[in-house]
Amino acid sequence: MNEIETQRYAELYERIYGDYLREEVEVHLPLGGDDELLTVIDLGCGTGGQLRNVCGRNSNAKSCFIGFDANEHMISRAKSLSAKYDQKKLFFEVSDFLRLSLNKMPARCDRNASLVFLCLGNTLALIVPERLPNLVASLATVMTQVGARSATLFLETRSGKDYSEWINGGRIEQLNYDANDEHILLSFQALTSQGNVYTTRIYSLYKNGTRAEFCFLEEPMAHFVDLEQVKSALGEKFNFSMDEIFDDKGGTISGLTKGHVFQFKLNLKT
Ligand SMILES: C[S@@+](CC[C@H](N)C(=O)[O-])C[C@H]1O[C@@H](n2cnc3c(N)ncnc32)[C@H](O)[C@@H]1O
Repeated sequence: MNEIETQRYAELYERIYGDYLREEVEVHLPLGGDDELLTVIDLGCGTGGQLRNVCGRNSNAKSCFIGFDANEHMISRAKSLSAKYDQKKLFFEVSDFLRLSLNKMPARCDRNASLVFLCLGNTLALIVPERLPNLVASLATVMTQVGARSATLFLETRSGKDYSEWINGGRIEQLNYDANDEHILLSFQALTSQGNVYTTRIYSLYKNGTRAEFCFLEEPMAHFVDLEQVKSALGEKFNFSMDEIFDDKGGTISGLTKGHVFQFKLNLKT
């Protein structure tokens, strides 16, 4: 995707995906009470909608919410959409979560806070499975930097087997539809799969008859996330438990198939 398309994609991101999983995250994510002291780190935060959601529900002045994304346009959009939030509490930074370091940020994270990682919106599909150990190393680095031995990871993925069976042979998946949108008539993604890889080309049709095409990456390839691979990578650095906290196989929001949300309770191995 070229520079202009990357920027346009970030600008349209919220309109293309609408409120995908927002409500579910709001209702189902076990983040304790409203005044819980939290450090929440969003890996691949996009335009920051989920993180604003979680931050907006938390009234503890010492809590801290940090969103990282590799796409600078996503981050600049996240920042402008978050202007009305407490700037001492909610931050966004351009960063590759496979090589994450909080640099100067640990000072902002209270050592007594519960540490939570979010990785929502099927973001893991965008990294090749061989890089999962890098993600796990990032989690361990951050935990060491903030002085936490334990953390919770909420991972939302469209699980490998279900999703690959659903796509099998090719699918058109309608994305958000908003009859009141000034310019966009319809957005959809065209999916085809081969082995554990699928294409993730996204299209918007405009009311003026033109069409735009986007993809997340240089190459429009994503991977069916294999939970066993995720667990095996996590096991290298952590003792952990895993629970599925949300799964709506049948339902759709904005025409998009929903994901499964898993909760991993992580303890750093000594
Ligand atoms: C499908 S979007 C999900 C966004 C957001 N989590 C949500 O639920 O709306 C995936 C995001 O992950 C980002 N991303 C992919 N690989 C990344 C990496 N290695 N480091 C940081 N961000 C990454 C992409 O730029 C994109 O914004």
